Amino acid sequence: MTTRTPSAVDFAEDVSPGSGALPPRAWYPCSDAKSLSLNGSWRLRVSPTADAEDDSFAEPGFDAGNWAEITVPGHWVLQGDGAFGLPIYTNHLYPFPVDPPHVPTENPTGDHLRVFDLPHDWPGDGGAVLRFDGVESCARVWLNGTDIGGFKGSRLPHEFAVGHLLKPAGNVLAVRVHQWSAGSYLEDQDQWWLPGIFRDVTLLHRPAGGVLDFFVHASYDHRTGEGTLRVDSDVEGRVSVPALGIDVPTGEAVTVPVRPWSAEVPTLYDGELVTEGERVPLRIGFRTVERDDGLIKVNGRAILFKGVNRHEWHPDTGRALDAETMLEDVLLMKRHNVNAVRTSHYPPHPAFLDLCDTYGLWVIDECDLETHGFTEQGWRDNPVDDDRWTPALLDRAARMVERDKNHPSVIVWSLGNEAGTGRGLTAMAEWIHDRDASRLVHYEGDIDCRDTDLYARMYADHAEVERIGKGLDGGTHRRRQLPFILCEYGHAMGNGPGGLADYQRLFEAHDRLQGGFVWEWIDHGITHPELGYAYGGDFGEELHDGNFVCDGLVFPDRRPSPGLVDFKKVIEPVGIEGEGFYGTGGSGGTLGSAGTVRITNKRDFADLSDLVFEWSYQVDGETVEAGTLAVPSLAPGASAEVKLPEPAGEVQGFESRWTVRALLAADTSWGPRGHEVAWGQGPVTARRLPCVVASDAPVLDERVITLGPASFDARTGALKTIGGVEVSGLRLDVWRAPTDNDEGAAWQSDTRWATVWRTHGLHRMRHRIGSVEAGDDALTVRTRVAPAAREFGLRTVYRWTSDGSRLKLTVSVAPDGEWTMPLPRLGIRFGLRRADAVKWFGGGPGEGYPDTDTAARTGRWESTVDLLQTPYVRPQENGARPDVRWAEIGGLRIEGDPEFSFTARRWTTEQLDAATHLSDLTPGDTVWVNLDHALHGIGTGSCGPGVLPQYQLKAEPAEFSFIFTELG
Ligand code: GAL
Repeated sequence: MTTRTPSAVDFAEDVSPGSGALPPRAWYPCSDAKSLSLNGSWRLRVSPTADAEDDSFAEPGFDAGNWAEITVPGHWVLQGDGAFGLPIYTNHLYPFPVDPPHVPTENPTGDHLRVFDLPHDWPGDGGAVLRFDGVESCARVWLNGTDIGGFKGSRLPHEFAVGHLLKPAGNVLAVRVHQWSAGSYLEDQDQWWLPGIFRDVTLLHRPAGGVLDFFVHASYDHRTGEGTLRVDSDVEGRVSVPALGIDVPTGEAVTVPVRPWSAEVPTLYDGELVTEGERVPLRIGFRTVERDDGLIKVNGRAILFKGVNRHEWHPDTGRALDAETMLEDVLLMKRHNVNAVRTSHYPPHPAFLDLCDTYGLWVIDECDLETHGFTEQGWRDNPVDDDRWTPALLDRAARMVERDKNHPSVIVWSLGNEAGTGRGLTAMAEWIHDRDASRLVHYEGDIDCRDTDLYARMYADHAEVERIGKGLDGGTHRRRQLPFILCEYGHAMGNGPGGLADYQRLFEAHDRLQGGFVWEWIDHGITHPELGYAYGGDFGEELHDGNFVCDGLVFPDRRPSPGLVDFKKVIEPVGIEGEGFYGTGGSGGTLGSAGTVRITNKRDFADLSDLVFEWSYQVDGETVEAGTLAVPSLAPGASAEVKLPEPAGEVQGFESRWTVRALLAADTSWGPRGHEVAWGQGPVTARRLPCVVASDAPVLDERVITLGPASFDARTGALKTIGGVEVSGLRLDVWRAPTDNDEGAAWQSDTRWATVWRTHGLHRMRHRIGSVEAGDDALTVRTRVAPAAREFGLRTVYRWTSDGSRLKLTVSVAPDGEWTMPLPRLGIRFGLRRADAVKWFGGGPGEGYPDTDTAARTGRWESTVDLLQTPYVRPQENGARPDVRWAEIGGLRIEGDPEFSFTARRWTTEQLDAATHLSDLTPGDTVWVNLDHALHGIGTGSCGPGVLPQYQLKAEPAEFSFIFTELG
């Protein structure tokens, strides 16, 4: 028989931030005071409601022998194979009735128990503090049977004074965690709902005279080159920075020449704060952040954010990240030219900010606040506009600022995300401005910028961003004075995002546009035994938002997606452009005077002295010469024309180009010597298009027509063989398995092309053969390709010719009737029985679509059919290699006139379209090859703007050819 403990429900539904916790203060990873990690194996009991069990489990002597074991930090729904409940994914819908501050009676509750001894050398004097770095969604805590308080604010630290309760051995720490609480209303971020003690639990010895809170003020005056340091500390002491000869009392300012901190050159000085009882290491970065002249400036210079939004994610452990995973994120970002992180949508584990300080990333630190679900009711009862919740909001703001204020990387505080507007937000902004005038305040929802220091938007389209850049956007007077960022853009869901380069051009063209943060860093797929990675709905949730949770630049296992590779190229810090030599048009020509390459330092602070440059020449995609290129160490913003050496070898008659690469000259903390930072290519001589003289005549047998090396079905005109290679199902193809961006978002009307395509039947085109004509020098097959129920279609003529050994197909397409939509693709597809290795000369090594192909470099590439596939968590169109001159696969060489996009896979487009998870894709015995004359762009319509007009594939007359040769 259990007793009802109404206090459990009352606690869960209490809008206050909690009770018993110490005031928030600076977080530091270590000091000479002892600490004891309480991470590890804990006992767990999960109950269906907040009060199903009484709190007697917190009493010393309680026998939890039959409880399960769980790892802390961790989420209980990601442990125990579902025995403790399952994850839930919603974007903005609350998975419970909107009835603030009430939460459902069905409120999974995890009682956690940990028994611990103090280490032998734990000091007998002083106090102790118990610190929780993150518990979702709330916790009540007992130590040795004493109720020490409770808290909400899942991704924020909470400390309790517990020295008086500790025993040398057998301490019983009991923590009751409810999945739902009043706090859940403030934590409606677009992510999995994952209850548990998911960050560290630590016992900290607090020596008498130990450090309490301290605030490192380290500014930099770019005019004098001096830094000013002042460390304010609740407990007086001294501050020393040996490298700068600083040794001053706390509270005293000292000005000395320093090297400044920036994301590009993250100079940190080791120091120490020494109070009577404790020595705390300091890592000091001198920098000054200000809004000046309508721009965000650091150390006197305007900066350009090349950022990402980062949720904390690991496919096995959710938001419980270990140090290696955090480091992996930072290294991946640095290696992909990312220079900024918005910690969407909550303060990250503090160790992540240490890494940002060390490796150099600008940080917008965002508070743990989102009330997006209130939008469903016109924002009625929104907690941020209800004074009863203001203490909770202020508590969250204070816990973020106090915890993270000593990080030089943090240059902007964000009030939260998608929480509407209200007095509570204003109160937060006022509190933050008052507490820390040395940083700027951001909140995207504040459209008039009443409370903020920068104008931020999400997913504004290119045209609007351009207007903002030109100052033609209107808005309040205050807003018009402010710098602009896209706090979210480039929705990286599935294949994409498209259009990043077009945004970057705008950012670089208009000072007011200070860059943006791609949404988002990582796909939040959950490792699943059958599905590979699970997304919303895979755990039987009654409400969910499907794979909208998989919208990252890296896959769940942190493998970079093509989107990240494209982004790296788009934001590269060195511009490498040029005209090369000359071009005499399509047929090559004689060599003219040497070309030049224009090198531009696009960095904000650093020169180029850390880089070496290499040039090379490629003839027909093969590198024939290479060397180093002397490039002056340009100052930020400067550029120079650098003469390229003249190619010594024969380039006439071949397609040739130069490639120049900028590489790290030496190992750095984040990348090895030789790591490529930027590159560029330019033409020397143009491609000579392939030519087949139609000298062979088709020969009609009873059932078969032969032409050169090929045989055709005489009745249908269908290609059957090319030499010994069987070819099946060759025909015009316009369908692609819609990408998430093709599908668009429910709230959009003009980017949902997948729906339009399906409604019009583009996924089920029928092919009617009009005639099969064996002429003197060609076999011509006339067809009409159109969907059932519609009158529009594509008149398609296949014209086959041969010079005896090679086979040329020319496809002519003419739209018929009224086409009101773009085409997904336009090309041919066919099946090959045996194909594995693939070689091509064209764009590579990864995939590229019209608006995502910046990183496609022209060269010779090799792969396999399997490796050509991009494993988007929800299967969709992928893997096209752009601008292919020729490709070899399955015993055939295929040359294009003009260049084409090449795709090959072991399943059909229809199977790819039908698949919901990668596990649905099983290889058949045919490899399906698509040779596309053109592809519709990708865009970012899954949340943002669709495909820009210049990347849309319009239904227009087109003609294109392929030349097939059987490989010997
Ligand atoms: C934004 C939101 C993000 C995420 C994104 C779509 O509106 O701030 O949290 O939901 O859209 O993936």
